[in-house]
Amino acid sequence: MANVVVIGTQWGDEGKGKVVDLYAEDADVIARFQGGNNAGHTLVVKGVQTILHVIPSGILHDHKICVIGNGVVVDPAVMVQEIDDLRNRSLFPADTKLLASEIAHLIMPYHRRLDLAREARKTGKKIGTTGRGIGPAYEDKVARTGIRLCDLLDDEIFREKLKANLEEKNFYLTKLFGEAPLDEREVYDEYRAYAEKLKPYVANTSLVVEREMRKGKKILFEGAQGCHLDVDHGTFPYVTSSNTVAGNASCGTGIGPLAIGAVVGICKAYTTRVGQGPFITELTCEIGDRIQKVGQEFGATTGRKRRCGWLDMVLIKQSIRVSGITGIAITKLDVLTGIEKLKICVGYKSPSGDEFTESVPANLRVLSECRPVYQELDGWTEDIQHAKQIGDLPKNARRYVERIETLAGVPLTLVSVGAGRENTIILKSPFSD
Ligand code: IMP
Repeated sequence: MANVVVIGTQWGDEGKGKVVDLYAEDADVIARFQGGNNAGHTLVVKGVQTILHVIPSGILHDHKICVIGNGVVVDPAVMVQEIDDLRNRSLFPADTKLLASEIAHLIMPYHRRLDLAREARKTGKKIGTTGRGIGPAYEDKVARTGIRLCDLLDDEIFREKLKANLEEKNFYLTKLFGEAPLDEREVYDEYRAYAEKLKPYVANTSLVVEREMRKGKKILFEGAQGCHLDVDHGTFPYVTSSNTVAGNASCGTGIGPLAIGAVVGICKAYTTRVGQGPFITELTCEIGDRIQKVGQEFGATTGRKRRCGWLDMVLIKQSIRVSGITGIAITKLDVLTGIEKLKICVGYKSPSGDEFTESVPANLRVLSECRPVYQELDGWTEDIQHAKQIGDLPKNARRYVERIETLAGVPLTLVSVGAGRENTIILKSPFSD
């Protein structure tokens, strides 16, 4: 039985939350493996909306194990708040377990402060980070100065590490950015309270996942962001600070790569991006505004308006390659209803005549000079939200998804035609391979 990775094929916000929530029905363990509370997964269940930032989207299901893997950076304040919120709204099933890796790194107040201070200081080339301290937290992990959940639970180690970190971080805050320093006692007290609250959830999650796999249980690995925000494979430097590609599901949970049997790439029927960075198919016209409004394209974490544009198959093809995607799920097809002519980008052309059809040029200057090569298709006007199978879609909507499937070269697993669980055409369960 395959274990499945779900990842975004664009710049995040593809609608992974809904797909993970649907696939979670067939899974026993749902594990996040990278990112932090820069992610925002929006779920609509029985008309009720829940946005999760740290806790895996499987949490709304009974009888699951939800894992925050070692590759995630955890803001304990956000984790505590999400747990409390889910419990207060009776959305945390009694027989579902939530576990966070003891070796996951923490986001500390100085990470948030440095993230914001750096962005504010940049004049031209801002990344447009979510300001959640993600980059600085990953920097400390690689610099080997980071504080892990297991360190938080050990008072002596935590005190020592906090002191050492604050010495350095307060230097940057005051001397480089001209800001007020953080008070050691205040941070200590705040984090001690989190330690008490989070203790029951901290575990060696690699062992837990491995044990479940041995019992024949099914694991669903939940990606955050998208392949083009990957720190290696994305549009660097306009990326996040983790590896978002499928390969990191293994490293970010402590499970060998051969445990992964299928990779589902989530592909929104059009493209969006929040924050800065190149966006070849961006629409700065009325159609872009319409997609933004109809698709309610606001960042789930920051509330920022997302930039919108036509579907870009160059992005998707690169993602299929770098993540070994075995099937694609198309989301938010309904948002395109009523647009007379639709365009799909099948290549980029540079002024010197070079054409890129399978990979995004690494050189940002070359990329910024590229122009999209489009195929045009007729749109549809019929309401498609209640379609249950591909045959229920109007002819032109069917042609649109079939064209994506042909261009992608991998089979479709699902088409989402509305926000609810019921607004979905399921073609194939990735677990049934
Ligand atoms: P950071 O991850 O907060 O450092 O932000 C780096 C870049 O990634 C910015 O352009 C963010 O807007 C973008 N980003 C981070 N997380 C997400 C996400 O979940 N969806 C979409 N964009 C994101």
